[in-house]
Amino acid sequence: MKNKQSLFLSKKKLLKEAGCDDYKESAKRMFSKAYGISLAQSYRYQTYEGSNENNSLFSEMVSRRAVGVPTSHIVCSRSFWKNEFYVDGTVLDPRPESELIIDVTKNLLFDGMRVLDLGCGSGCIGLSLYKENSNITLFLADFSKKALSLSKRNAKDLMVDCEFIHSDLFSNIRNKFDLIVTNLPYIAKDDFCFLQKEIILHEPHEALYGGQSGLDVIKVFLDGVYKHMNRNGIFVLEFGKGQDLSLKRELLRSNFNKISFYKDLNNVNRLACVKKDT
Ligand SMILES: C[S@@+](CC[C@H](N)C(=O)[O-])C[C@H]1O[C@@H](n2cnc3c(N)ncnc32)[C@H](O)[C@@H]1O
Repeated sequence: MKNKQSLFLSKKKLLKEAGCDDYKESAKRMFSKAYGISLAQSYRYQTYEGSNENNSLFSEMVSRRAVGVPTSHIVCSRSFWKNEFYVDGTVLDPRPESELIIDVTKNLLFDGMRVLDLGCGSGCIGLSLYKENSNITLFLADFSKKALSLSKRNAKDLMVDCEFIHSDLFSNIRNKFDLIVTNLPYIAKDDFCFLQKEIILHEPHEALYGGQSGLDVIKVFLDGVYKHMNRNGIFVLEFGKGQDLSLKRELLRSNFNKISFYKDLNNVNRLACVKKDT
């Protein structure tokens, strides 16, 4: 029987040959999942002999990765901000760029603050905010029942106490909030075909597709958001590269004037923080 190290090295080579850009990291993550060990331990454990069961699980995972299944869907986990989130392809994988929302809002949180994460997906944004201040009152909403059930699972794993609302934007939301965070779909029709094949094949399109202009869903959000904001309320919205000027036009048209934009690590505007005019 092969020891784990030679199995690991041969599978890493296979992934490289299959064209996986992230073959090193991917092999390590699948290895640690298949053998039930932490990532930090994975190097040391490669030298021991593995059981047939663990070896076959690892080989099976590598075969799925080699045909393009994202590593996160194979190991059912993706890290975001300070935690790991369960993911399985039924919701969008949390993206590092969305951590900017946490960075910008974490210092605004106060005890008792009513926070809504609209279009919560895995729940990564709202749940991360709760972990920054567990005295907020958190609501997670999505129109996808699968997203709600997955975000419930993540809330339970992270021991977060919050409410879940099944709602198409604000259609089923009656309350007002001090902070609304949202990362709604914003990929324009013409840009959709330029997404990575892995994303098109393995991530839910309703989480990505923002209509003809990319801002179609966001425009409907803007129509409804004002009456759900408390006095001095704020909403924080992620958007796509190059959409800042059109978004600003839409915000001004909806009578929002207190707007700040935030740039991502590539120095591109990706986030709007909007205060209610009182
Ligand atoms: C880009 S994903 C973001 C998911 C998560 N918030 C994150 O940042 O990883 C957009 C989410 O919005 C949800 N969504 C799309 N249109 C919606 C609508 N009209 N009403 C409510 N949720 C919607 C999708 O189901 C998806 O979970």
